[in-house]
Amino acid sequence: MCGIVGYIGASQAAPILLDGLSKLEYRGYDSAGIAVYDGENIKVQKAIGRLKVLSEQTHDGATMTGMAGIGHTRWATHGAPSNQNAHPHFNQEETIAVVHNGIIENYLKLKKHLEGKGYQFVSDTDTEVVAHLLDYYYKGDPIEAITRVMHRVEGSYALGIMFKAHPGILYAVRKDSPLIVGHGKDGNLIASDVPAVLKYTRNVYFIQNEEIAVLSEENIGFYNVDGEEITKESTTIDWDINAAEKGGYEHFMLKEMYEQPQTVRDTLNPRIKDGAIDIEELGMSEEEICMIKKIHIVACGSAYHTGVTAKYVFEGVARIPVEVDLASEFRYRNPILQQDDLVIIISQSGETADSLAALREAKNRGIKTLGIVNVVGSSIAREADKVMYTWAGPEIAVATTKAYSAQLVAEYLLAIKFAQIRGEITDAEVASYLKDLQKLPEQIEMLLSNKEKIQHFANRYISAKDVFFVGRGLDYAISMEGSLKLKEISYIHSEAYAAGELKHGTISLIEEGTLVAAVVTQEALYKKTISNIVELTSRGAFVLAVTNTGNTEIEKAADYVIYIPQTNRWFTNSLAIIPLQLFSYYVSVGKGCDVDKPRNLAKSVTVE
Ligand code: AGP
Repeated sequence: MCGIVGYIGASQAAPILLDGLSKLEYRGYDSAGIAVYDGENIKVQKAIGRLKVLSEQTHDGATMTGMAGIGHTRWATHGAPSNQNAHPHFNQEETIAVVHNGIIENYLKLKKHLEGKGYQFVSDTDTEVVAHLLDYYYKGDPIEAITRVMHRVEGSYALGIMFKAHPGILYAVRKDSPLIVGHGKDGNLIASDVPAVLKYTRNVYFIQNEEIAVLSEENIGFYNVDGEEITKESTTIDWDINAAEKGGYEHFMLKEMYEQPQTVRDTLNPRIKDGAIDIEELGMSEEEICMIKKIHIVACGSAYHTGVTAKYVFEGVARIPVEVDLASEFRYRNPILQQDDLVIIISQSGETADSLAALREAKNRGIKTLGIVNVVGSSIAREADKVMYTWAGPEIAVATTKAYSAQLVAEYLLAIKFAQIRGEITDAEVASYLKDLQKLPEQIEMLLSNKEKIQHFANRYISAKDVFFVGRGLDYAISMEGSLKLKEISYIHSEAYAAGELKHGTISLIEEGTLVAAVVTQEALYKKTISNIVELTSRGAFVLAVTNTGNTEIEKAADYVIYIPQTNRWFTNSLAIIPLQLFSYYVSVGKGCDVDKPRNLAKSVTVE
């Protein structure tokens, strides 16, 4: 996700901004920029690509003199990577400069309102709306302008702001996107994350939601959303730089697992407006959606696994036939595609060679394509006819977690919207689905808080040689992902099996103490899967069951049970995956594996 740095003090700001941004590079970005007040005006310099480009352009900041400034590394969400879309963004008179991390969910509505007032926009970003809105409300008091903006914007933001009319002050404000203030010896700083300030200070304030920080060279003040002054305690950071990049987590994978509630919120909320699903971004007419005869979902790895989940949901809720294919198979099997089919390519990186080739295969045949992608401006995002972004932010760990969860909820939204447009479900059913969907983040948070129990259980299996994951229906889909997570980060052999299929051969592998994770969340299939569990335990398997709260009956059959909160049956994969991710993570850590960079794996497989 984006990185923000700001500095005001007795030193030249630009070199400090560039240094701070370099400590945030791990967050992933595609462009960068800095703004510095030079005593007369706010000067801005931006560059696409790596921070090095910006450093070269400014001779490591030497060409931008001034003691106050803000800087930004942009992870594109609205608007592809470009100079125009890079931050900082100005108001028209260039008297206000803004850097932003987060998603302004109602930016289109605000943009239309401001355009109606004569404001002209130069970028495709949601952030530029904030710069013009500050201008719209600014009547001489920055705090008043900021609080009025806070009351108008919806979504998540961490903002660094400079007003030309108030050169000796930096302003910062946040809601749902992290932002800290550093109190240094020769100046004060703002940043998205601790690593950016550690070189200058370990004395930081963590800005809470809807708090405003006001920094001068000497002082730091804090205000609430009503513009009233508040007091805050500072914290002394004792992390080393390496730990700090992971936000205090031991690994990026763990950090990204804990970001899942936010990435699910960020992927859902901008698309749920006044109780309705808004997928205007796809530019698909209702007629087009009604004409779809068949959906082909094509992807690799974990993205493929979300496709298997989506098959059940699309067919179950929207009654549209779905075929799920591994991209590496699809591209060579001369697939049978009809004119009214829709090919959906799912990809976190948007650069997976097989998935990109599959996309091109479908396009060459004139079939409509939709990409569900996490990286804005990536090849698949650019080449697909339509794109639906998962706003998970950059995923650093090779084993996907937060992007996987964001893909799932994006697919649920599509299936429900398609079902509604095709008259398969009522508005009341849509409302019920949305209610359950919007509870998922807090339910995921609750499951993540349960990590000790799973960590303890995982420690018993770090020497395991084979682990099986079984389930029926959606529980089979999530078993695939659970198995891959364990394999790829702990190097323990694992297989996912349709529970009903075990007796057709694989059950011969079950020995005394073999661990089998049985996912049992589908009520209609409980009894069937419980009988499979009995088949397994009677042959010596140790069965870990993942099931819905309240299904205590299963304790008679399984050896160990992890409960997930009740949710709509179509959404259980989003919850069942959490204990399975935690299990794999702690087994891998217990084995001393390189959790974030497992052997032989790449984050994006851009070769065949
Ligand atoms: C996920 O944990 C794996 N690292 C891998 O299977 C990944 O899902 C697959 O390579 C697809 O990548 P993509 O989503 O970037 O296309």
